[in-house]
Amino acid sequence: MEVIVSRLRSLIRNSYSPYSGFRVASLVVDENGNMYGGVNIENSSYGLTMCAERVAVFNAIASGARRIRRVYIGTEVSPPAPPCGACLQVISEFGDADTEIILVSLKTGETIKYKLEDLLPVRFHGSYIGGVD
Ligand code: THU
Repeated sequence: MEVIVSRLRSLIRNSYSPYSGFRVASLVVDENGNMYGGVNIENSSYGLTMCAERVAVFNAIASGARRIRRVYIGTEVSPPAPPCGACLQVISEFGDADTEIILVSLKTGETIKYKLEDLLPVRFHGSYIGGVD
């Protein structure tokens, strides 16, 4: 966990959050144990802001990953902040009920561990529209 906390601490420095001042860093671990990072990227047109978790997931998928085993989310508040609903849905596309969502406070070092099914118990997925399971 110390390695993760230190990676999140260096990654969060890349957060582009001049409007909210709320910095977020995320690390996604794929089925092969490879790790991909993301930070929140805000926009002067506020609604175009992208969360750190989605940047990390998209980075993973664009790099060739397909399944997500674990997502770390680092914030500088205590208790550590959870992902928003939009990010949970995006994680769900490439994860499953057991995908781990681990919240990390970079202020106190406190961690809270969930499974995706804890945070998004009923999920919309591709099988409803005749796509992937
Ligand atoms: N944010 C994230 O990066 N992840 C979340 O799950 C929730 C919110 C960012 C978006 C915005 O840049 C800032 O936090 C305040 O909402």
